[in-house]
Amino acid sequence: MSSEPNSISPDARPYHGLVQMVEALHAEHGDTHRGLGYPRAEGFDVRYRVYLDVIRAAVRGTPCSVLDIGCGTARLLDLIKSLGRTEIAYRGVDLSPQLISAAQEKHPEADFVCGDPFDLGEIWSPQPDYVVFGGIFTCRLEMTVEQMTEYMLRLLQLAFKNCRRAIAFNVMSHHVDWQRDDLFHVPFDRMAEILNANFSRHYVFRADYGLYEYTVYLYRSPVTE
Ligand SMILES: C[S@@+](CC[C@H](N)C(=O)[O-])C[C@H]1O[C@@H](n2cnc3c(N)ncnc32)[C@H](O)[C@@H]1O
Repeated sequence: MSSEPNSISPDARPYHGLVQMVEALHAEHGDTHRGLGYPRAEGFDVRYRVYLDVIRAAVRGTPCSVLDIGCGTARLLDLIKSLGRTEIAYRGVDLSPQLISAAQEKHPEADFVCGDPFDLGEIWSPQPDYVVFGGIFTCRLEMTVEQMTEYMLRLLQLAFKNCRRAIAFNVMSHHVDWQRDDLFHVPFDRMAEILNANFSRHYVFRADYGLYEYTVYLYRSPVTE
């Protein structure tokens, strides 16, 4: 165990609070923005297009796979289907049996796995080209900023080690006129420091879509196409 005062043991699962919160919201509001933990209807859907844009235009149409961790009700798969992106092989993973069965109900033929990515060796085989973490690093609830940073880092390291091309994930913006203590606002400089120190210099910060968050595309190698 680390001696850092704020660090959490690798066995601790402090993020289960987020799962319980989403389960309660989903039980009340169903497969809607509220039911997935997003208070605002405005712009709710745009984030799924943004996640998918981690696949660069030049390689669009080429067969690839996307692992959607924290898939919820698989809104990302809704979008993939509605766009006719049949070249994308999708797999969704979620810690919540409730959210996984809602996803399965909508997409009975699709590949879903229920469980914790830290425990699930099988989700990395075959190796996904892209990993998406949508809305799982935006709320820190009871976690301190240090604990949340450490948790995000551990999960990103797992995905980075196991994916072939890139990861997309979002956090709350720090460059806004309000911040909440239960949300995870990360300044761009801090995020750049984390990415440079632990992953690669090949990333994009996407803050053009009108929400109080931004999405990071983290590539394993320079994007030249
Ligand atoms: C805010 S919802 C977002 C769902 C979906 N990604 C979307 O954007 O519509 C977060 C989801 O991630 C799941 N989750 C949170 N932390 C997780 C983790 N460490 N591993 C797997 N699932 C997780 C929750 O159960 C919940 O379904």
